[in-house]
Amino acid sequence: MSCQPENRSGVKRIGILTGGGDAPGLNAVIRAVVKSANNCNIEVIGLEDSFDGLIEPDRWRLLGRKDVTGILRIGGTILGTTNRGNPFAYPVDTSGGRKDYSARCVEMFHELKLDALVVIGGDGTLGIAYEFHKLGIPLVGVPKTIDNDIVETTNTFGFDSAVAFATDAIDRLHTTAEAHHRVMVVEVMGRYAGWIALYAGVAGGADVILIPEIPFNLERVTERIKARDAYGAQFSIVVVAEGAKPVGGKVSVIQEGNAAVAERLGGMGARVAVELEQMTGKETRSVVLGHLQRGGAPTSFDRVLATRFGSRAVELLLAGEFGNMVAFHPPDIVAVGLDRIVGRTRNIPIDFDVVRTARAMGISLGD
Ligand code: F6P
Repeated sequence: MSCQPENRSGVKRIGILTGGGDAPGLNAVIRAVVKSANNCNIEVIGLEDSFDGLIEPDRWRLLGRKDVTGILRIGGTILGTTNRGNPFAYPVDTSGGRKDYSARCVEMFHELKLDALVVIGGDGTLGIAYEFHKLGIPLVGVPKTIDNDIVETTNTFGFDSAVAFATDAIDRLHTTAEAHHRVMVVEVMGRYAGWIALYAGVAGGADVILIPEIPFNLERVTERIKARDAYGAQFSIVVVAEGAKPVGGKVSVIQEGNAAVAERLGGMGARVAVELEQMTGKETRSVVLGHLQRGGAPTSFDRVLATRFGSRAVELLLAGEFGNMVAFHPPDIVAVGLDRIVGRTRNIPIDFDVVRTARAMGISLGD
């Protein structure tokens, strides 16, 4: 096996963890990191359940080639994950007594004799990674989320898989909507960005797409549905991003957040369906795709992207280029400083080509 490039940083033993909500492709990154690192005689320690794996002495395991055989195509993460808890937010009770969580993680990093970390996560986890980087932990981040809302990378892995699933769901809703002359409202994930809704909506031939970046007016949506009726298309498909909101209104929250846990969005699809039924006079149903969008096998695009991210992350470790996130700047995988991504959200520019394309197709964006 060849090691390219040469090991200039002298890293010999690295930890890897997955944090935040899972996304198809996490296992593909783990596999790529283990294979690339092992080829350079670097040991890989898998840390369980995000940074919790650096709290207790028994929450880690050595990962070799055999441990990653066959996981490329499997969703979820063999290491487990959590989107509850921020090591910098509160102390934690451990078998060694009450400890400052972040100090404990640094302590365990040294106790495990790790030289560096690969942190795979979304904006929250990468923000935590940046704090550890500032505390002197050498690390590289890998951007993951189905939401595709991390700045400085054109794609996160998981997004393409979520869009593929949502597109399939919209295809299925089309046939039943048409058969019953109904309006079908489908709510998709994405938090405060509308990437999944926009791409799945265009790919699935939706008639209306409501995204957080463009506050909606249901009068406009009603006009679109009635216009379709008038030319003989007596059904409509309305895709609603979970973070969409009406003009002058608020997002629909099902659980408030706090310092350690993000607020949970949901319910806007059902609200839109109730109002559209009244406004259009048409029978309307709503469906929430929810966590189905995060499950299942990664698409081939996500497998390749995740594999490239994992192998590039190891290259950065070998070169000693710590404090960076790997990023997709087509056609290349590049390194971007974590300081440039923390606290920012990548939203859809409202003059984005796919937005203009949607409008050209006659899709209503609710404005
Ligand atoms: O960030 C990924 C995501 O799936 C969002 O689209 C969604 O709002 C959130 O996570 C759901 O989180 P949970 O798994 O805590 O319900």
